[in-house]
Amino acid sequence: MLEQIQKFLPDDHPWREQIQYYDVISSTNDVLKEMANQGALHGKVLVANQQTGGRGRLGRSFLSPSDVGIYLSVLLRPNCAPSELMHLTCAAALGACDAIEKATGFRPGIKWTNDIVCHRKKVAGILTEIGLNQVQKVDYVIIGIGVNCCQSLEDFPEEIRSFAGSLSMVTGKTIDRARVAAELIKAFYQMDLCLLTEKERILKAYSKNCITLGQTVSVVRAETVRHGTALQIDDDGALVVAFTDGSIEAVNSGEVSVRGLYNYV
Ligand code: BTN
Repeated sequence: MLEQIQKFLPDDHPWREQIQYYDVISSTNDVLKEMANQGALHGKVLVANQQTGGRGRLGRSFLSPSDVGIYLSVLLRPNCAPSELMHLTCAAALGACDAIEKATGFRPGIKWTNDIVCHRKKVAGILTEIGLNQVQKVDYVIIGIGVNCCQSLEDFPEEIRSFAGSLSMVTGKTIDRARVAAELIKAFYQMDLCLLTEKERILKAYSKNCITLGQTVSVVRAETVRHGTALQIDDDGALVVAFTDGSIEAVNSGEVSVRGLYNYV
């Protein structure tokens, strides 16, 4: 698989020799975090065929079966304060859409903040994590993405079938997982080049791709559910919602999940 991924990268791609492939791993994010703490360099990439402890946002697990998905994490070491990276997950989601479009010809949308969606089905999820150093600056950033590539509907547990999908289900095509991985690596490399300098452009492009905007949404925070309409993405990548009680608030992805009319999007 590693050779196949490299085949889709230019010979001089700066991250080409930094890719490490695993047949089975606990979680590419967890292992890369350990490597980051041991001094791994900017641009280190882990790719796995299967994860036994794949993690999602808000403490959820991420199903990561063998041979049908791509589980990939990238390590970045931007020299900045964490407050400069509020748009990180949005930037990564945008990069993921670009990559999937290049690999499949189909452009997905984004369910705020970090779900990649095709025809109302989640085909990929992103988990970004930031580590700080002793002076509270960014030590490392890990961008982890899991893409459902080749599953058929029956491959998903029944309870998630109504909102889970794969790239092959959506496109009707055979998906080359190595190509998907290579396009993700290229897209995250490009994203990194402009992450700190083009925040405004990134959030504008994110908004264009975000299918949540304009929708009726349920905002779930701990035990509380509030209903409203998603208005826009603010300067930090938060979702601005007009609630039915008349209040307008920016909700932050770290604390809430958002559900749409169809109970998912
Ligand atoms: C989500 O849907 O909430 C995010 C899912 C993120 C899954 C990816 S798979 C590669 C990386 N390793 C993990 O344990 N999680 C991320």
